[in-house]
Amino acid sequence: MKTVLITGANKGIGLEMVKQHVNRGDKVIAVCRTPSKALQATDAAVVSNVDFLSEDFEKTLLNQIEQISSIPHIDKVIANAGIRDFDNYQDFDVKAIRNQFEVNTIAPLRLIKALDALLTEKTRIILISTRVASHEDNTGGGEYGYRMSKSALNMAGINLSISLRHRGIAVFMLHPGYVRTDLTLGEGLIDANLSAQNIIELSDHLTLNESGSFWHAIERIQLPW
Ligand SMILES: NC(=O)c1ccc[n+]([C@@H]2O[C@H](COP(=O)([O-])OP(=O)(O)OC[C@H]3O[C@@H](n4cnc5c(N)ncnc54)[C@H](OP(=O)(O)O)[C@@H]3O)[C@@H](O)[C@H]2O)c1
Repeated sequence: MKTVLITGANKGIGLEMVKQHVNRGDKVIAVCRTPSKALQATDAAVVSNVDFLSEDFEKTLLNQIEQISSIPHIDKVIANAGIRDFDNYQDFDVKAIRNQFEVNTIAPLRLIKALDALLTEKTRIILISTRVASHEDNTGGGEYGYRMSKSALNMAGINLSISLRHRGIAVFMLHPGYVRTDLTLGEGLIDANLSAQNIIELSDHLTLNESGSFWHAIERIQLPW
């Protein structure tokens, strides 16, 4: 049995990853702002009121993790929570861009630092990125805040992989596919359960040698930076 911590656990891809990890017998710490009924119906240990826009979410998170019994370490951290604003050159909103950096880039970094004492040689860190963070792959433009914040998340992930490699901790950035969720306004090519299944399988198989890499979780290919 592994211990897995997942953020953005109340819906979308995060909720599906919670369900699938619980179903295979893992102990899941499900981090969210407000638990959904679907999350409450799982056997995950729910950690709520964790808002990545708040100054001190680390305290709220760690206080609740301390209450959960038998958590000697965390085997897998999936930093999945994210926000996306559909902006363009004509109408981008600076506050919305800042918020995307807070939630998509800075919060995952703060999360890993907050959990540091619970990370072990076995830990795998998964940062849910997106293909649209790729510089090379950007032919469409737009979505300034989303692209910029996720691209910076990739850099945070490479840095973390360098900082944590000597402890045997590996870090991966994964694109979950184009998934029908609230973030895409229901558009997409696949459902969240298939995305979650692929993220879990890939994250189970990647090794320390590949730490710091950026993957398409469905196509199982590395993405260009
Ligand atoms: N769907 C796709 O096609 C796609 C493609 C590429 C990458 N991704 C990435 O996949 C991840 C999951 O997205 P999704 O499609 O499952 O979207 P989603 O259904 O909208 O879920 C987003 C999650 O992030 C949480 N969240 C947002 N703001 C937060 C905050 N301030 N504090 C704490 N939690 C917050 C949401 O919680 P609340 O319910 O409380 O808002 C929700 O649980 C995101 O990082 C996204 O960028 C998705």
